[in-house]
Amino acid sequence: MPEFAKVGVVGVGAMGGGIVQMAAQAGAEVVLFDARPGGAKAAVEKLGATWDGLAAKGRMTAEAVAAAKARLTPAASIADLARCDLVIEAIVEDLEVKRKTFVELETVVRHDCVLATNTSSLSVTAIAAACARPERVAGYHFFNPVPLMKVVEVIDGARTAAGISGRLAAFAREYGHRPIACIDSPGFVVNHAGRGFGTEALQIVVGEGAAAYADVDRALRDQVGFRLGPFELLDLTGLDVSQPVGESMFRQFYGEARFRPSWLLKQRLDAGLLGRKAGHGFYAHGPEGQEKPP
Ligand code: NAI
Repeated sequence: MPEFAKVGVVGVGAMGGGIVQMAAQAGAEVVLFDARPGGAKAAVEKLGATWDGLAAKGRMTAEAVAAAKARLTPAASIADLARCDLVIEAIVEDLEVKRKTFVELETVVRHDCVLATNTSSLSVTAIAAACARPERVAGYHFFNPVPLMKVVEVIDGARTAAGISGRLAAFAREYGHRPIACIDSPGFVVNHAGRGFGTEALQIVVGEGAAAYADVDRALRDQVGFRLGPFELLDLTGLDVSQPVGESMFRQFYGEARFRPSWLLKQRLDAGLLGRKAGHGFYAHGPEGQEKPP
């Protein structure tokens, strides 16, 4: 029996879809909810295709695939999350929208249901403050793509009850992730430390005109050993996600200069150059994952 037998995931886009996959592979029943009509069903179909692909490569048995598929239920409304032991939110990175969702969730779930947010940069404490029971709220911050990025930050808000993060960490180990315990601070560990990766790269390209972005990517990927260069990472994450994260961290650090977002990202966001999801970002992207040379 998994640590959480029934898990709800609210927002089943890039991150939520991966979280659903992990929870189902750990043996949990998973209820998927998305505000986009047809979004939950589409995510179930996409995951089915992912598992079929893993079976075709011999990385999952046909029985395991059938069992995992049977654990997924697309929700017609948020009320379908009523019997969940844990609900993980992975919706848009906007404090007010997240707070509203948590308030709504509390009208639906049991009193002992744990509520977790996959926020990249917002305060877990501020999200929890909207709740009648802030002690059941924690941060559960995954990385993209979830099945491959094996770390998850488990974040205690200022009022999170003792024991909640321990359960979330135990659940993470069940699907093969390594939990990192953090307290609630802007960007937690990875986005705080990792911010410099993007801001310095932008400083080299935009501030100093010292190199082209594709060369910065090549240097940091091929020479320094990062899996992706900073501009490749921006394309993977999507500017619609990373730009609000940068703005939020800058605000939370009271305008500290080293966290100042570059105007270039805002301009490219406004232009719709979001990254892979839009087909074009710093690079042109063909059908899923096929990157054309810059
Ligand atoms: P996404 O845009 O791929 O998915 C978000 C999903 O939430 C969409 O399917 C959308 O229809 C749905 N949604 C939006 N508002 C909703 C609402 N009020 N109720 C229900 N569903 C709603 O975004 P992505 O990349 O999955 O990011 C989601 C969250 O995860 C954000 O908080 C982001 O900061 C965080 N995150 C993103 C990472 C990334 O690299 N993309 C990494 C780690 C965290």
